[in-house]
Amino acid sequence: AKSGPSAVTNTMGAYACQRKTPLEHHNAVLTDALLLLAENADFCTNEGRSVAFKRAASVLKALPGPVRRMEELQGLPCLGEHCQRVIKEILEHGASSEVEMTRHSEHYQAMKALTGIFGVGVKTAEQWHRAGIRHPADLVSSEHKLNRAQRAGVEYYEHLRVPVTKAEADRIGEIVKRAVDAVLLGAEITLTGGFRRGKQTGHDVDFLITHPDEGREEGLLPKVVSWLEDLLLYQKTNKNSYLEAKEWPARPPSNMDRFERCFSIFKLQRPWAALEEPPQSGERGAAETPGWKAVRVDLVVTPVSQFAFALLGWTGSQLFERDLRRWAGQKGMSLSSHALYDCEQKRYLRATSEEEIFAHLGLEYIPPGERNA
Ligand code: GTP
Ligand code: MN
Ligand code: MN
Repeated sequence: AKSGPSAVTNTMGAYACQRKTPLEHHNAVLTDALLLLAENADFCTNEGRSVAFKRAASVLKALPGPVRRMEELQGLPCLGEHCQRVIKEILEHGASSEVEMTRHSEHYQAMKALTGIFGVGVKTAEQWHRAGIRHPADLVSSEHKLNRAQRAGVEYYEHLRVPVTKAEADRIGEIVKRAVDAVLLGAEITLTGGFRRGKQTGHDVDFLITHPDEGREEGLLPKVVSWLEDLLLYQKTNKNSYLEAKEWPARPPSNMDRFERCFSIFKLQRPWAALEEPPQSGERGAAETPGWKAVRVDLVVTPVSQFAFALLGWTGSQLFERDLRRWAGQKGMSLSSHALYDCEQKRYLRATSEEEIFAHLGLEYIPPGERNA
């Protein structure tokens, strides 16, 4: 048998959860282009089209080397006609006219800026855009009503658009750990999201909190949040609304929000601010840099019996999660961040590790670092 791209072509699964997708890959020029089109499709509320572009990009991320010729794509899944046209143009001319036109379009740029505000989704951004709003700054003087999240989003816009580093995530982890230890002995925290997949930067920091004794975690979050109060610039805490027996199988597990959880904005002191002396002047920008940085943090509390499902569900990537659920569906099962239900056997499949969940689903185990679909 031949080795090289064609060998890969034959074995690549159509579901992201069937493939290993590393963080660093060989086709960033192509995937950046396709992901921009996906983003723009989201801005035009065309989810189907957006997912199609994301799937195509994800397939290219999983290739063992850079694509140089169209023939190398033969037999690969998820590469529709439109994607192929874009890829072909980039391979031949170095850029895609559609991508460049989109990138420079007024609608794309305004929607990117407006949806970049914490608390603002595509629907709101589109309404504002139609009313002539182009940038967060336009909202400060406008008549448009902002909710509490959006007000925080506008206020800390410049902070929140700066990526969070792994070092900052670790410092926040230490603070959250201290809070959790103070309010419930034996509670444990786990870093999830992009950082668990090995990313060095992220748009936020995601933590799971649990306790080895089932039930002890109940009501934990309000206490943690009040311990952290002085460090939080914004927080919104939701109660756990998941009830296994009542909800399933009557309702499908679209439940993205059923844990006790908190969306927050942390006020993180910069390292030198804790020291006696600030950096000497002459260091660029030191004068204008405040001694702290606003950072988005998500806290999620899970009963230990659901921990493996929550860990799998919150580690991402988003496309990996989406395809996991789709894969489960196709196998007659229903997967959420709380549980796995076998619709034919009419019973829940328990698991205490991610490995067990992959096994229940009949999938090869994919470690977090290879879930960057
Ligand atoms: P960055 O934060 O941009 O670095 O990437 P990320 O992968 O960490 O994204 P994000 O923080 O948005 O989400 C982390 C994971 O949690 C992703 O897999 C999401 O699918 C998942 N997630 C986000 N929101 C929810 C939610 O409300 N419920 C559940 N169950 N999962 C969610
Ligand atoms: Mn995240
Ligand atoms: Mn998050």
